[in-house]
Amino acid sequence: MRQHGTVAMSPAAPLALSVLAFAAGWGLGVADVGDFAPCLRFFYRSWPPKGLSGTPICQRYVNQYRYATLYSRPRRSPWFSAYLYEAPAGKRPSACWKFEPQLAYPAADGNMVRFPPGPLDPKVVESQEVDLDYINSSYSRGHLNPSLHHTSHEDRAATFSLTNVVPQKVGSNDGPWEKLEWTVNRTLSAYCLGDAYVVTGVIPYRTEEHWLKNHRVAVPEYLWSAYCCPRYNSSLPKELKGTFPTYAAIGRNDPNSTEEIVPVNKTAKSKFRGYDVRRMSLQTLEMYLKDRFNTVVTVFYQLCS
Ligand SMILES: *[C@@H]1O[C@H](CO)[C@@H](O)[C@H](O)[C@H]1NC(C)=O
Ligand SMILES: *[C@@H]1O[C@H](CO)[C@@H](O)[C@H](O)[C@H]1NC(C)=O
Ligand SMILES: *[C@@H]1O[C@H](CO)[C@@H](O)[C@H](O)[C@H]1NC(C)=O
Ligand SMILES: *[C@@H]1O[C@H](CO)[C@@H](O)[C@H](O)[C@H]1NC(C)=O
Ligand SMILES: *[C@@H]1O[C@H](CO)[C@@H](O)[C@H](O)[C@H]1NC(C)=O
Repeated sequence: MRQHGTVAMSPAAPLALSVLAFAAGWGLGVADVGDFAPCLRFFYRSWPPKGLSGTPICQRYVNQYRYATLYSRPRRSPWFSAYLYEAPAGKRPSACWKFEPQLAYPAADGNMVRFPPGPLDPKVVESQEVDLDYINSSYSRGHLNPSLHHTSHEDRAATFSLTNVVPQKVGSNDGPWEKLEWTVNRTLSAYCLGDAYVVTGVIPYRTEEHWLKNHRVAVPEYLWSAYCCPRYNSSLPKELKGTFPTYAAIGRNDPNSTEEIVPVNKTAKSKFRGYDVRRMSLQTLEMYLKDRFNTVVTVFYQLCS
């Protein structure tokens, strides 16, 4: 399925923007930005999630596709990244951050590029988030596709693209959300017998967008994640009943959020208080996505059945 939409849908007024985007010629580029066709293998049944619109990026590094991202140009951050889980090996690569040249220059080479030392091309800065956006902000760089869920050094290094990153509070990134990434790692490595597809994305604030300090990069209210593992070991331990073939979660990124979606554990350590993650079924996740995006959002083809 091809997606030529280019403008991310904030819950308000998507139509006028997509007309503008079309006039500006976005999405006409072939290759890695503007079309998921070259990297459909990262989606269960080659079927990208439905209901969210943005700019597809096939994330290429050292001439191979590594994962797929639906990017929002107006938010300068991703809606979701989709990847195949693999058991990790080796050390976490050093954080060497990269950008996507085709967001600024559609005819550029599609491989992600390391940020050069020194001043950046203003067209690159205009087209996406850059290191400076995070300096002196109160947010860390939160991977949607984490390096932990990959085996090869190149696959892990490829997750260090800022197009795969959203502003995430340290209390979430180093707390309950990291724990979720560990749990998914242990669960899939122990009980998934075939391919495991993962999609991890964001939920925007319902009314007013929150931005990083300089009003360039939108901050999500929640992160969500879901996996689909159609072939699994059905002798599951009791605590994992109901977590296959598919399972999901939503994590808080703001202690001030209300508790309807994810309740707060009041006895958690203060550093992590208010950043809870709630595990839930895929149906429940899709219900919350539908409510927030005002449209049906389908993460996996036929609920990964
Ligand atoms: C960050 O804050 C420090 C201390 O307030 C300041 O010296 C520095 O210039 C700031 N850096 C940027 C990139 O804003
Ligand atoms: C990830 O899973 C692998 C394989 O089960 C395990 O060896 C490793 O300790 C796990 N890492 C984390 C951080 O959970
Ligand atoms: C399935 O899991 C059980 C333990 O829960 C283990 O004994 C068995 O070897 C596993 N089967 C496969 C095919 O991995
Ligand atoms: C939460 O609310 C307090 C008080 O209004 C404010 O100072 C703080 O910045 C808010 N936190 C976030 C993450 O928005
Ligand atoms: C709340 O946090 C405390 C301290 O981290 C933990 O022991 C407890 O299990 C948590 N409760 C729930 C319901 O998760």
